[in-house]
Amino acid sequence: MSGMRMLEPGPRIADPLEPYAQVKRAQPDGRCWVTAHMVGGLDGSAAIGGRVGDLSTPPDAELFRLMRALADVVLVGAETVRAEHYGVVRLPPERVAARVAAGRPATPSLAVVTRSLELDWSARAFADAPPEARTLVITCSAANPERLEQARQAADVIVAGGDRVDPDLALRRLAERGYRVVLCEGGPTWLGELVAAGLVDELCLTLAPLMGGDPLPVSLAPPGAPLARFALRDVLQADDTLFLRYERGTHAP
Ligand SMILES: NC(=O)c1ccc[n+]([C@@H]2O[C@H](COP(=O)([O-])OP(=O)(O)OC[C@H]3O[C@@H](n4cnc5c(N)ncnc54)[C@H](OP(=O)(O)O)[C@@H]3O)[C@@H](O)[C@H]2O)c1
Repeated sequence: MSGMRMLEPGPRIADPLEPYAQVKRAQPDGRCWVTAHMVGGLDGSAAIGGRVGDLSTPPDAELFRLMRALADVVLVGAETVRAEHYGVVRLPPERVAARVAAGRPATPSLAVVTRSLELDWSARAFADAPPEARTLVITCSAANPERLEQARQAADVIVAGGDRVDPDLALRRLAERGYRVVLCEGGPTWLGELVAAGLVDELCLTLAPLMGGDPLPVSLAPPGAPLARFALRDVLQADDTLFLRYERGTHAP
């Protein structure tokens, strides 16, 4: 008997976030839990014309907004902030109310990983951040000192590493500041660093029903990176969009 089986459609879900909200994301030792949330085409492409917009379907866009309600901090590589003109995280009022009722900050902070510090400090990602959720800039000690000073005016700066941001150190610095659930929204370069360091606990991958996007996979493995293995936990569907949820682990036997 093979292990293959048909997946039958299950019941409709009123709140798309519910299956994701049920996941226990506490780490026993106070480390961060890292959830990566990405969308790819059927060919694995992570962008179309350098942007993610045309790749995302309406159900994916809805889940993208909602997933942020689960996070203490939304972590992104600087190129995604530049390409996607990132703003601060905004949540629907009912999600804000639920977080506040649970004693959590109203919204998660945004954290940007960069070595170059080539960011527009007057942009929404920094200028619109509320005082209780200032945007974080995670950089390394090789960063240009003048730019570092500018960054400190606009954001809370974390230095985590020498020549480059060390992913493990960056997460330890976030945990020290009380951030536990980290939602990484890419991009592929920064996600590849987290994957290579074995730090991605959960991958929420949307498969959008198209091919022919940019030759950019959802995660770019740095040279020599080991394989990272994941176990399938949930499969959800909305129209032609497939939502796969994996956790770090080995394949079922
Ligand atoms: N499909 C999806 O779900 C999805 C999600 C996000 C983005 N995207 C797409 O992906 C593209 C952007 O992704 P990307 O892979 O080019 O860039 P990225 O991962 O967003 O950002 C790369 C940048 O992050 C910084 N960085 C990464 N690792 C670092 C380290 N260890 N130390 C210091 N800095 C580090 C560097 O910033 P500096 O250059 O400032 O030093 C680097 O240039 C866009 O087309 C976007 O639309 C797709």
